[in-house]
Amino acid sequence: MTFQTVARAFPVSSISPVSRCVSFCVRRFCEKNPTKLRVSEALLGAEVGEDVRVQGWVRSYRPQKNNLFLHVNDGSSLKSLQVVAPAGISDPLLTFGCAVEVKGILKKSPHSKQPVELEAKQIQVIGECNPVDFPFKIKERHSLEYIRQFPHLRCRTNAFSSLLRIRSEATAAIHSYFKSNGFLQIHTPTITSNDCEGAGELFQVEPPGTTFAEEGSFFSVPVYLTVSGQLHLEVMSGAFSRVYTFGPTFRAENSQSRRHLAEFFMVEAEISFTESIEDLTKVMEDLFRSVTESVLDHCEEDVDLFHKHVAPGHRDTVDDALKKTRFPVITYTEAIDVLKRSSEHFTFPTDWGCDLMTEHEKYLVKHCGNIPVFVTDYPYDLKPFYARDNQDHPKRTAAAVDLLVPGVGELCGGSLREERLSLLRSRLQECGLEENYSWYLDLRRFGSVPHGGFGLGFERYLQCILGVDNIKDVIPFPRFSHSCLL
Ligand code: 4AD
Repeated sequence: MTFQTVARAFPVSSISPVSRCVSFCVRRFCEKNPTKLRVSEALLGAEVGEDVRVQGWVRSYRPQKNNLFLHVNDGSSLKSLQVVAPAGISDPLLTFGCAVEVKGILKKSPHSKQPVELEAKQIQVIGECNPVDFPFKIKERHSLEYIRQFPHLRCRTNAFSSLLRIRSEATAAIHSYFKSNGFLQIHTPTITSNDCEGAGELFQVEPPGTTFAEEGSFFSVPVYLTVSGQLHLEVMSGAFSRVYTFGPTFRAENSQSRRHLAEFFMVEAEISFTESIEDLTKVMEDLFRSVTESVLDHCEEDVDLFHKHVAPGHRDTVDDALKKTRFPVITYTEAIDVLKRSSEHFTFPTDWGCDLMTEHEKYLVKHCGNIPVFVTDYPYDLKPFYARDNQDHPKRTAAAVDLLVPGVGELCGGSLREERLSLLRSRLQECGLEENYSWYLDLRRFGSVPHGGFGLGFERYLQCILGVDNIKDVIPFPRFSHSCLL
């Protein structure tokens, strides 16, 4: 209950002298200490008629002859709160981009564009902003590429603040999906001594001044920033049948591509007692649908900004993905057939046994109707040691699956894991890894069960639903080769 509500409960006319005195004091107190509202709360209009105060940054500034119009935004919504002030209240320090506190009465707005406006009695500039030096200009729509140059300031733009709200909502929706489906969250380590993917894209970790080869190195063994929490999740899947992790992941890929970062966020799940690859594709697809529906429901205006100004028409692509009852599934062998039969000119070879490149993945997505598509059963030799041998021809394919999505290509990578001790041991021997992974073999010695899992690149997911071309525009502070600003 706000003080204003208390004041309303004691109307001055109807009550005794004592109550009248209480009411008077409460009113005076309210005038001096108006309720502090966030912009999103003020816009709901529940406090119309009350004295309130709002704090935020000035997103537009329009002085007119008799009145001054401001839009104040505090990041709580894409919409700003319109502030109307008598011209005399203006302050020379009041500029586009400055931080303010506004006190006044919240009123119903006479204009249809906004439900309420704040009639200002007092505007205090809390933090100045020189509009000449400020890299963003009033009324200009700056490109994502332009604002990317200012990682310390770009959260002040509409587009990037929308992105950050969507990111936060999607994060909550991911946790909510897993919680309501019986998954246990595991905090897998950031520092690890394994190379899960075996691709050698590791960042080695050591305090400055020590040599990795030295006896006295910090951990006494070479350690790295994690490339995947999968192996740690597999440990946990030996006691909990459904586990997941969601955190930063690091890859020393010397790539300037629009879908690779050196630090990205990955959602990973591991499921025990699997019976087939469909046990994985179902979770991947349900996760995609559930998180996307939640983002579209809760961040409608923010998502619209992207679908109107960044990727016009992209909303139809997202709707088409959600409409289809189940995402199509094709095998890698079928995918290679499709690529070979196509008249498209590809830069990379499309022979059986070659990895699918982005150009192939994007073509396959288009071929399937521009909706997400699963590709299963990749060549055994293309997959890491943990992937389960399909035993079709000796060691021809592994039970691995990728989810390819419009505009991006690969969004998820997963597999059934080799749970059979003898097969896993011989694969580790072939790769020269048996000694390092004796603990991993133990998982197969003691109560091993068929299991599998997948990883979803969170930034690629955001690119996919928003239609953002460059991965650097969907993460607060992008890290990639030759760039680590801030
Ligand atoms: O396909 P990946 O390499 O799979 C794994 O790491 C498995 N161990 C996951 C698992 O089964 N638990 O990576 C998973 C996803 C990719 O599909 C991609 O979306 C994303 O992570 N990804 C990247 N995103 C941004 N920048 C990079 N450098 C990425 N590398 C992978």
